[in-house]
Amino acid sequence: MTVSIDRDREVAIVTVDNPPVNALGQALRQALWDAVGTLDADATVRAVVLICAGRTFIAGADVTEFGKPPVPPHLPDLVDRLERAAKPWIAAIHGSALGGGFEVAMGCRFRVALDSASVGLPEVTLGIVPGASGTVRTPRLAGVAAAVELVTGGRPVKAAKALSLGLVDAVVSGDLRAEAVAFARQTLTQPLMQPLPQPISARPITSPDPAWWDEQRQAIARRARGEVAPLRALDCLRTAAEKPFAEAMAFERATFLDLRASDQAAALRHIFFAERAAPKPAHLGDARPKEIRSTAVIGGGTMGAGIAAALLDAGLPVVLIERDEDAVQRGLANLRAIFDGAVKRGKLTEAQAKARLDSVTAGSDHGLLADTDLVIEAVFEELSVKRAVFAQLGQTCRADAILATNTSYLDPRRIAEGLPHPDRFVGLHFFSPANVMKLLEIVPTPTTSPETLATGFALARQLGKIPVQAGICDGFIGNRILKRYRAEAETLVRQGIPIAAIDAAMRGHGFAMGPFEAQDLGGLDIAYLQREGARAAGQDVPETLGDILVRAGRKGQKTGGGWYDYAPGDRLAQPSQATAALLADHISTGPGLTAEAIASRLTGAMATEGKAILAEGIAQRASDIDLVEIHGYGYPRWRGGPMFEAERKASQRSV
Ligand code: 3HC
Repeated sequence: MTVSIDRDREVAIVTVDNPPVNALGQALRQALWDAVGTLDADATVRAVVLICAGRTFIAGADVTEFGKPPVPPHLPDLVDRLERAAKPWIAAIHGSALGGGFEVAMGCRFRVALDSASVGLPEVTLGIVPGASGTVRTPRLAGVAAAVELVTGGRPVKAAKALSLGLVDAVVSGDLRAEAVAFARQTLTQPLMQPLPQPISARPITSPDPAWWDEQRQAIARRARGEVAPLRALDCLRTAAEKPFAEAMAFERATFLDLRASDQAAALRHIFFAERAAPKPAHLGDARPKEIRSTAVIGGGTMGAGIAAALLDAGLPVVLIERDEDAVQRGLANLRAIFDGAVKRGKLTEAQAKARLDSVTAGSDHGLLADTDLVIEAVFEELSVKRAVFAQLGQTCRADAILATNTSYLDPRRIAEGLPHPDRFVGLHFFSPANVMKLLEIVPTPTTSPETLATGFALARQLGKIPVQAGICDGFIGNRILKRYRAEAETLVRQGIPIAAIDAAMRGHGFAMGPFEAQDLGGLDIAYLQREGARAAGQDVPETLGDILVRAGRKGQKTGGGWYDYAPGDRLAQPSQATAALLADHISTGPGLTAEAIASRLTGAMATEGKAILAEGIAQRASDIDLVEIHGYGYPRWRGGPMFEAERKASQRSV
């Protein structure tokens, strides 16, 4: 049963029960539609409480219906019908009232929220605009400025903020049903002193002046970087502020239906479902993760400190191990710098930063690890160094402690050789800065137990990260594709395409930076040293253009130049005569390429590598590869990742 009705004397209670998140599929829309009719016709009912079973209030339209033609009753009509109901409806919100869920709540005459609830209009994160009056009713309810922030940003707000913005009428704690019924009764007993508020559609709205709208447009365009929905949402909000209600509704609906069928919406839906599938790979079966209550990080460099910060942010105490007292102090300083930065940016209070640092035990004595549940190694990327660490960990840690390596290139099997109880060993590959980047590659070895693997996934959830399982190969999923991407970019340079044109094309595609700017920022020497290591080990690694630059001392911004030149203290990339001279013998002249063709070559190369990775079983699913690129390498989310883009292009070509 999706909707049931029961009674508390003159108050009817309509309960929605449509697991998992009470999404507004057709059956639920119809059931609510019918409930309005039933309760309007019942003379003994004076008010109606709309409440939901399960973990949340209505979390929105049913996203799985978006690929199909809309079927009546349409959501805007349902919201309208609720608003016109003969009895006042009161939305009783717990969990999240999102998108269509919040639109339904706005059709109600009142909104009462549990103090832990949130409300919002996240449609732009799915590449669409609200489609059932979110852009038209919200500014009438909370004012234009608040509506612009809520709708174009897509971020929900907590109950207390929602109350201060006027999005909800009351925030309660305890028994939501009882509180909402009491609220209903109170409104019924005071009608003479306090008449019912006007339906939202009838409330006045004042538009700010055109200059304000222009400022908003510029700010949103800067943030959106190619994403269309936020700007189209702004158009809807402006229409709502300047035109009559019905006209604004028609404009919003047309925009919603147009965007629903767009490539960007398809891409963002793909990522929405990919992110929800990633933490639950079928092959984990019913393997139970171990509980992690204490952690340790070996190595306090940039990576180690970032991992420690991620663990501390999740409320886990950390033992930070370095090889001597000086290194311990440097590690602590790195960690302090991370939290100081968070305080400066207003992400943490001084007290929160202090509490995190107080949860750190730092030292060089491995005895500190005797009772730790999880140890993550993040020392220098060299096999002998890592093996020495694990040899020690094998002796000092509990036999059931999970031991993880953060290697990004080395073979985890070789790192773990000789480790007692190798079933508790796993690769956990974080991305820098590890306390910020959402991706966690989980790399099991053939001896990793299902329980250890499940613990890796559970840890990712605890840390708020997106876990992707990767098999063992050079660079796992992400760095292997990165290598291919960079190689293809160099191929273009060799064919005479200007370095700056390649970077500009990738920025135009939605990346924050092109491949060469990114290398200059991170330093060319890291990948160079890996290639040199492989060459020293007898592998046939062809010379790259990057090798030529590093040998000439051009390692990137830190040396004043890499692919580009940089003025001292300036991050502005300037085309470099020196680079041109160094590479001249390797560059031929050929026909130019459009920005679109450049981006297509590079993203196509990533997808080709991705296909090989899938075929070899290194990745479990194509959507996992897309998640790796989006959450680890800055691939624009609204493009859906290289695999999705390639697939979509191929299917469009075949139509
Ligand atoms: N439609 C269909 N399925 C949905 C859904 C939706 N709107 N929202 C969540 N689900 C599914 C998920 O795919 C997942 O399915 P699975 O168990 O098979 O993997 C299941 O519900 C549980 O979702 P989560 O894992 O995300 O559950 P959480 O408890 O972590 O989070 C939530 C709950 C905060 C409600 C989160 O699911 C969420 O943010 N959902 C999306 C909300 C949203 O974007 N709403 C707007 C939709 S667009 C719209 O309403 C248009 C309108 O204006 C016309």
